[in-house]
Amino acid sequence: MTTHPWDTVWLGGTLATFDPNRPGPWGALPEAALGVKNGRIVWIGPLTDLPEPPDVVAREVRSVPDTWITPGLVDCHTHAVFGGDRADEFAARLAGADYAELARAGGGIRSTVRATRAADDEPLRAAAEARLRDLARDGVTTVEVKSGYDLTVEGELRMLDVAHAAGRRAGVAVQGTLLALHALPDEFAHDRAAYVDLVAREMVPRAAEQGRAAQVDAFVEDIAFSAEECAPVFRAARAAGLGLRVHADQLTDSGGAVLAGEWGAASADHLERTSPQGVRAMADGGCVAVLLPGAYLTLRDDHPPPVAAFREAGVPMAVATDLNPGSSPLRSLRTAAALACSLFGLTPAEALAGVTREAARALGLDDRGVLEVGRRADLAVWHVKRPEELAYWIGGELLRTRVLEGIEEG
Ligand code: NIG
Ligand code: FE
Repeated sequence: MTTHPWDTVWLGGTLATFDPNRPGPWGALPEAALGVKNGRIVWIGPLTDLPEPPDVVAREVRSVPDTWITPGLVDCHTHAVFGGDRADEFAARLAGADYAELARAGGGIRSTVRATRAADDEPLRAAAEARLRDLARDGVTTVEVKSGYDLTVEGELRMLDVAHAAGRRAGVAVQGTLLALHALPDEFAHDRAAYVDLVAREMVPRAAEQGRAAQVDAFVEDIAFSAEECAPVFRAARAAGLGLRVHADQLTDSGGAVLAGEWGAASADHLERTSPQGVRAMADGGCVAVLLPGAYLTLRDDHPPPVAAFREAGVPMAVATDLNPGSSPLRSLRTAAALACSLFGLTPAEALAGVTREAARALGLDDRGVLEVGRRADLAVWHVKRPEELAYWIGGELLRTRVLEGIEEG
């Protein structure tokens, strides 16, 4: 009996590796073979260089000619766990209401907090799972999911646990993020400092336990939290070994990008109103700029993020859905990539690197996002003739199959 060195070999597709050591914007490799063992990529090269015939080299041979194979897509910014929806606010905004005014009047994030607190585990999980399945159907293998719609110690932990449970059932890898600094809960309306203290002292260390969260995020905005209020929470995150993120400069230039840069955060996200000083701080701090065109579109914003300045400063750009009930009810990462091109002027190659390599970087994950020996075998196999199509077609079923840690779905 032959023992095969690899579990699977994928044959005949063109790889978009996004490996910067390979030439061109896609790091493309035509007529390729990709070997997988124990969930990792163990070999990449031209088909003709395979060391032995395919059926000798691997237990399973998967031939996928006329496809492009990319890294499994990474949605690095979602709020996919929440109760209820805010379709009523969507209609109200179309009739003239303003996002920030709705929030100040007790709607917005705080209305989703009421709905999330009222939801039982099971329906909360089922709704999140359905959203993650939609993302997976469009090629996503890793999703970041934030807390931030409960704002109590146990409730924030419950949101993170629900996110992981939903991810296991939907077949996507979930990375949790504690976003307790999302809105001030009503019960702390007269004591902001006490809430910030609770987040820093209790929520951050508990979220770090058992890998519930890998990063801590904060909404820096005049309707949310100030840069000063973030400091004790960020210090606690550092002490607990968690990475940092910032919702920055979305509605006003409130210093979010500067804060992210000063703290060396993994990313600053939104950035519609980031100043040149903010761009410089991000470049100095090594932050990824996470662009969220779903929120820009849904809020009918007209002030795009400073993409040219990010390019010039060498700030890497990622793209994410921001899937949430208020500002971005967007359930397709590929659509986010298409919108990043049409609304923000990214090239298709930038947008697709933004939902693979740069998205993984924003999550602090160096084991995925690029097709390279040693990384996870998270793959998306696409029915397209050229990779630009992935950021060109809006909707449609372009995915042929999806592979998570070496295992093909279905
Ligand atoms: O990323 N900006 C803050 N948080 C979300 C919106 C959440 C909500 O409106 O429920 C965002 O856009
Ligand atoms: Fe967000």
